[in-house]
Amino acid sequence: MKKIIIDCDPGHDDMMAIMVAAASGNTELLGITTVAGNQTGEKTFLNAQKILTLLNRKDIPLARGADKPLLRKLVTAPTVHGITGLDGAELPEPDILPCKDHAVELIADLIEKQAQPLTLIPTGPLTNIALLFLINPGIKKHIERIVLMGGGVYDSNITPAAEFNIYVDPEAAKIVFESGVPITMVGLDVTNKSLLSFEEIDKIEKKRGKVSGIVGPLLRYFAEANRKIFGIGGAPIHDALAVISVIEPSVIKTRKLNVEIETDGRLTRGRTVVDVYGVTGKEQNVDVAIEVDIKTFKEILFDTVKRLDVL
Ligand code: RIB
Ligand code: CA
Repeated sequence: MKKIIIDCDPGHDDMMAIMVAAASGNTELLGITTVAGNQTGEKTFLNAQKILTLLNRKDIPLARGADKPLLRKLVTAPTVHGITGLDGAELPEPDILPCKDHAVELIADLIEKQAQPLTLIPTGPLTNIALLFLINPGIKKHIERIVLMGGGVYDSNITPAAEFNIYVDPEAAKIVFESGVPITMVGLDVTNKSLLSFEEIDKIEKKRGKVSGIVGPLLRYFAEANRKIFGIGGAPIHDALAVISVIEPSVIKTRKLNVEIETDGRLTRGRTVVDVYGVTGKEQNVDVAIEVDIKTFKEILFDTVKRLDVL
C-alpha cells in the first residue's frame, strides 16, 4: 500500500487528483496540504475543505501552506479556474476541521510517523516543499520519491517557455529539483494528452450521482477555459495523472534526464530545461514522463467517479 501526501492548489484538476487518491484501494492518502497557485492561499485551502466535505473524508488531515512564492509576487490563474479557483458548480460549505499546523509541519509530522519512506505528490507551485527542505533538510531521507505535476520538455502554458506550477515559484522548484530526492516529473507533454472530451464530461454529468453531478459541470467549466485559451478540445486533468502514475506506474513511460530550472531568464523564467540529448553531461536527476497510456488513465478516472458516487 503506497503511502502518499498531496500538496495542491485546487483547482479543478487538483480536485480530480484528490478524488483519485481518496477512491484508490492501493494507496493510503495520509494528508493533504494546500499552497497558493491557481488561486490565493485562502481560496485553495477553502476549496480543499469543500472537496473533502463533498467526499465526506474528515479522516484526512488537511493543513494550509504558503500564501506566496519564496521570493516573487503570487501569480494566480483566474482565467483557467475562475474567481473561486473551482468555478462551474457549487460545492458544499466546508465542515472539515483543519489542522492547526502549517502545511510544512503537517508534512514533516506525517513523514516522521511513518516506518517506511513515503511518496510526496505536489500538484501546485513547489513553495511548501522547498520550505520543508530549507527548514528540515534531514526529512529528505524519509521521502521515497516526489512525483510532481509540473514543467514540460517541449510544452508550456503560462508563458511560451514555462508551465504554471514551476513559473509561479521557480526558486522553490530549483530547490526541489536540486534536493537529491528521486523525482518523477509529470509535465505538460503528457498531461495535455490526458484529456476528457466534452462528450466524456457529459457522460459523467449524466450519471447525476452525488459526486458525478458536481464533477461534470466543474470539468465542463475547466474544459471551456482550456478551449478558449489554449484551443485544447477538452479538460486536461493534469494533476490526476501524477496521482494515477503512483497508483498504476505503467500509465506513464519515463526517461532519466538532466533537468534544471531557469530562475533568471527574462523570457524563460520557470522553464524546465530538459537535456534530452545529454549534451551537458550533467547528472540525470529526474525521471521525466514522455509517454502516457490514455486508455488506462481514463479507465481509472471514470472508475474513481463511479466509486465515489456510491461511497
Ligand atoms: O500547468 C498546470 C498546473 O498548474 C496544474 O497543476 C494546474 O492545477 C495548475 O496548478
Ligand atoms: Ca494544480
